[in-house]
Amino acid sequence: RPMPDDATPETLEQAAAQASHCTRCELCHAATQTVWGQGNPRTPLMIVGEAPGDQEDLQGKPFVGPAGQLLRQSMEKAGIDPSRAWLTNAVKHFRFTPRGKRRIHQTPDAGHVEACKWWLTQERGFIQPRLTLALGATAARALTGNAKPLTPRRGGIEPAFDGGDTLISWHPSLILRLRDDAKEQALHELQSDLARAAEMIS
Ligand code: URA
Repeated sequence: RPMPDDATPETLEQAAAQASHCTRCELCHAATQTVWGQGNPRTPLMIVGEAPGDQEDLQGKPFVGPAGQLLRQSMEKAGIDPSRAWLTNAVKHFRFTPRGKRRIHQTPDAGHVEACKWWLTQERGFIQPRLTLALGATAARALTGNAKPLTPRRGGIEPAFDGGDTLISWHPSLILRLRDDAKEQALHELQSDLARAAEMIS
């Protein structure tokens, strides 16, 4: 019989099992499934995105859509095997608006981030990463409580709510939406942040 989802989990596996039937916010109703983190739980590096997208929602795995492909490629270039890090999201259900047969991604709001912080806190407590890479403003806000714009913060390290070092970078889906020089520069910056992360955990 499943535990109530507010009973404190004793293991990472138990946390994942509880999160799979989470009803802490309304996103659970329309989403296909909870997308829990994935990778090596004994890693020194946690990478936190915003929320699952369409592909992640269908497959039940983080960073498997277009933004995920870009992230995984960039990680490999930086010498970080994606399966040896822990990849997760600030919010663990897909938020979207239906448009015909398509589902249009929507950024989770502060209430969704707040509700889901319970799971991020549990996840971080079991994994205790040495370094966290926050991808985009939603992850940065969830981890640090700081909601200020990302541009002056990117490439910097801020303390997470639990004290852990958090390196701030761009979200790969933002990079995919940029064009020309801006895209090239943002991609270069993500790449250099990943290289720095690789160095910090080595
Ligand atoms: N895929 C994810 O899992 N998270 C994101 O933030 C974006 C794409």
